[in-house]
Amino acid sequence: MLIGHKEAGTINKLNRNDFCWCGSQKKYKKCHLELDEKLDRLEHEGIEVPGRELIKTESQIDGIRKACQFSRSILDSLEGKIVPGLRTDTIDEWVHDYTISQGAYPASLNYRGYPRSICTSINDVVCHGIPEPRELQDGDIVNIDVTTILDGYYGDTSRMYLVGDPSPLARKLVEVARECLYLGIEQVKPFNRIGDIAYTIEQHANAHGFSVVRDYGGHGVGLQFHEEPFVHHYGPRESGMVLMPNMVFTIEPMINAGTYKCRTLADGWTTLTADGSLSAQWEHTVRVTFDGVEILS
Ligand code: MF3
Ligand code: CO
Ligand code: CO
Repeated sequence: MLIGHKEAGTINKLNRNDFCWCGSQKKYKKCHLELDEKLDRLEHEGIEVPGRELIKTESQIDGIRKACQFSRSILDSLEGKIVPGLRTDTIDEWVHDYTISQGAYPASLNYRGYPRSICTSINDVVCHGIPEPRELQDGDIVNIDVTTILDGYYGDTSRMYLVGDPSPLARKLVEVARECLYLGIEQVKPFNRIGDIAYTIEQHANAHGFSVVRDYGGHGVGLQFHEEPFVHHYGPRESGMVLMPNMVFTIEPMINAGTYKCRTLADGWTTLTADGSLSAQWEHTVRVTFDGVEILS
């Protein structure tokens, strides 16, 4: 077994002077050789490492960045417009029509049977709220989650909007959830692990008496909507996949005022807090750079 494995590995091995596998047109020894050797050592210690298919090329990253900026521009354009009396299916229509008019496509529409172009998750809805003919009320907090396909690339981002004048608790939850996202992002750099992101997020949420949803997480993204790895937002530091330059994934912590436990409605999508407490979420698509992180969205 071991010998067979070794032989298989040898066949795949590049020589130092071959072109690198990553498409950089550089010699392997001047590109990924050292990183690969480090990854091999980690893998032997039983640590989960990314496969080469999770490392994006520069031109793929350019495309993903454009898709992310498109999604971001939609969220920007909604600032100041999310007011009491507005229906969430109206927001969905705006985003759908604008996206199509620009030659892009809303990734959520018909995704695994999802019926709309965006998710609108109000108050105790944790995620995947379906836009509907329901008017936003003064004091609601709502997450709007937009994923766009532009030139075949996916960009996924979401943020919270305050409707009218939410309670101090609701405002606090929204703010802490935002801090959780940015503290998580600060943990992104080569050879850190997804657990480092997760741990940092959970510590911050817990410090404010809030909990972190476990049933959903971030995900690789870019060439498809949901790719490997799964990005959990809770748990210990030394866990999950090792990060490598040019991996692209989302961080999207869902923070609950009460229990972390969730339930999903019979529609198969709408997910709520099990205890009816408020929930807030912010999401960015990020790229691991050679010494840190780039927020693509
Ligand atoms: N945009 C969501 C995410 O952050 C996924 C929504 S899937 C949908 O991963 F079908 F509900 F739109
Ligand atoms: Co996402
Ligand atoms: Co999203």
